[in-house]
Parts: sequence; C-alpha cells; structure tokens
Amino acid sequence: MNRSPITRRTVLQTAGGFLVAGGLAHASGLAFQDAARGKIQKDLIFRTTEPRNGEPELAKLVKSWQTPTELFYVRSHAPNPVIDPKQFQLKVEGLVRRPITLSLDEIKQLPSMSTTATLTCAGNRRSEYNGPEYENVPKVGGVQWEGGTIGNATWAGTLLAAVLKQAEVTEGAKHVWFEGLDQIPKNGAVIGFGGSIPIEKAMLAEGPGAPLLTHTMNGAVLTPDHGYPLRMVVPGYIGARSVKWLGKIVVSDRPSPNHYVSTAYKIVKKTEALDWSESGPIYRFPINGAICTPLSNSNVAAGEIDLTGYALPSGRSGSKIKDLLISADDGRTWTRGELTGKNMDFCWQLWKARVKVNSNTKELLLRATDSAGDFMPARIPWNAKGYLRNSWYRLPILPTK
Ligand code: MTE
Repeated sequence: MNRSPITRRTVLQTAGGFLVAGGLAHASGLAFQDAARGKIQKDLIFRTTEPRNGEPELAKLVKSWQTPTELFYVRSHAPNPVIDPKQFQLKVEGLVRRPITLSLDEIKQLPSMSTTATLTCAGNRRSEYNGPEYENVPKVGGVQWEGGTIGNATWAGTLLAAVLKQAEVTEGAKHVWFEGLDQIPKNGAVIGFGGSIPIEKAMLAEGPGAPLLTHTMNGAVLTPDHGYPLRMVVPGYIGARSVKWLGKIVVSDRPSPNHYVSTAYKIVKKTEALDWSESGPIYRFPINGAICTPLSNSNVAAGEIDLTGYALPSGRSGSKIKDLLISADDGRTWTRGELTGKNMDFCWQLWKARVKVNSNTKELLLRATDSAGDFMPARIPWNAKGYLRNSWYRLPILPTK
C-alpha cells in the first residue's frame, strides 16, 4: 500500500545516499552523482543537508526567467536514492487492463514532449508564518523556507497519458498515484514519497499542462537531487505532486493513501486525525509573488529605487499575471510594476518596478492579480503546517537619508 516496492534489504546506505534496485549503481553513475551534488551545493542556501533542502538567494533566483539547475531549489524528505539506470524498472498497475513494467529505454520510446513549467513547494515562504502577524498561534515547524522554493525549468519526458494509454485504463479510474524510490522512515516503517493527481489531469495528452515522466531538465540529464533517472512533472500543481525517483504508477478509484497525500500537504489547524480527514489534498498552487531585489533589510538610499521579483499566476490552465503592484506607504498608494521575461502558461512572470522611498519607509509591499480572478490577499489565516503562504509580500528595508 504505502510501502515502496523496494524492501529494506535491497537498499544499502552509503556516504552519498542509498543504493537501490537490487544492484550497485555503476561507477560512472556514482561519479556523476557526486559531481552534480558538489556543483549544486555551491549555489543554494541549505536549510538542512540530511536530507537535502536548499533554496537560492532571491537576488540570484530572478536573474533569469529560466532557472539554471544549480539555482533550482531542492526539497527532499530522505537521502537521494542512487538508482542504476540499467536496472531501473517502472511498474504501472491498478485499474488497468494491461499492468506493465517499463525500462528507461522503453519509456523514452513512448510519445514525449518538452515543456517549460514552474515548480514551487507548498511550503514556499513558510518562515513568514512565524512572524509577528501570528502571535497567538503555535510556531510552525518544518523547513523554514523563505521565498526561494520556486523555479522555472524546461522539462523533457514521456507523456503520462501515453504510458496510461499503453496500460489501458479501465472504467472507474479517478486518480493516478506516483511512488518514489526514496526510503523515508515514518512511524516505524519505511515508505516512499507518494503523490496523486486526478485522472482528468493525468490523461492530458497535449498542451503545457500535460504531466510528464521527465528525464531531462534544462537540456541535461536530471541530477540526483532532482529525481534521476525519472521524475514526474505536473505543471500547475504544488511541487509535492511532481514525485522524484519515480518507481511505480498506480491507477485507482481514490487518491493515494500515501502519507504525503492522505496527511501531509493539507491545510489544517490541528495535526489530528479528524482535521486531516476533513481536508482534501492540495493540487493546484495559488497565485504568489515576491520582491527579490533589493534583499530583505538592505540599506537603500532614499529616493527612487529599483525592484525586481517574480509573480506566479495560479496553476489554472491559461491563467496569467494581470496586475503587479508595489506600495512604499503601507498600502495607501500603489505603483504598477512592469512584467518582464516571457509570459507562458504554467510559468512564473518576472517583473521590475521603480518606487520612491523616504527615510521613514520601513517596508515595501507587493500584491498581484491574475487573469483567472485570483489575487494575493492582504492577510491569510494561519495553518499548522505552514503551506500556501501567498499574502502580500512584505520586504523590510533600511533607507538612508
Ligand atoms: N519526490 C520524492 N520521491 N521525494 C521527495 O521528498 N519532494 C517533493 C517533490 N517530489 C519529494 C518528491 C516536494 S515537497 C517538492 S516541492 C518537489 O519534489 C521539489 O522538487 P525539486 O527538489 O526538484 O525542486
């Protein structure tokens, strides 16, 4: 059920991660993984290193519309599994007429496409839930992310719809589950990271919203941190649905029972069974945005200052950023920002703005609206796990005279 198809005995822990899939990863694979790890470590701020959870400095993040892989955030719940691509097999089962097992080469021969899409963690901006706004509620635990768990990359891979077509989905199918090959200790068991999406999304066979079994990121083979050799990319959905180190797909009449669908990644006030049961899994990401330069608490000269940042329309098909507004006087007046970079479905939008600050300005505010009618609200209610923080972005600054 919740368990990964790999048993504990077939997984050996190494200094760099786990060896999975019944055999040692070949030597060149290991060298490749170490090289990739070293490179990425240089450019992210690691909030934890075991497992690896890092985000880029915001000023670096918005230098380009397409996020270089070394600046792309990493969010993992366990050490990277080390997977031998030659022995790799993906199982597809459940409500299908023909359960199948596919090698990496067989997957790559199925209809594929390349798409650029933004991934963002549901915990992006989580640390703000521990700010002064929420004084009388418990501290939100988990990785204390700032606004950097977002990135926009080009992904190439096989259409999930093509894999499902080959397996022949039967009547009654409503959800598609994904299971990762990582080994996460949870309540005395070891589970893989699981995701789940509705069948209507899974069956999209064209367009930028179609989910992909991805093997290539920004034109290069996936790095271990980002799910080598195969991961899901589900455009428009929170990052948790884009399962890395994909090992199994199950078609079902219900959402996955995996912990990361049935319990985590829900909006709850209390972490108790009734609260989990009463709330549904999060799928789409909401509209969001951040001011990325200047950095928080920077000294700026009073007068006109230049700002840059990102804004993400909600993960609805066709939704685009409509208005991007900055205030230097606590919301009394607003200046419109200019959208820069490309404007594509399921992708963030970069922006720039020039606003006037005086020596008393303490904070700059950002809000945005999108073409689907979604907006960043002034305040949002607290939730126990610190997800989907998308209220007005507030940047503290230190103006000099
Ligand atoms: N898949 C597996 N197998 N294990 C994980 O820990 N983390 C998820 C998702 N897929 C995760 C996973 C979460 S919460 C996010 S936000 C994205 O991967 C992050 O993808 P990235 O590390 O490539 O940026």
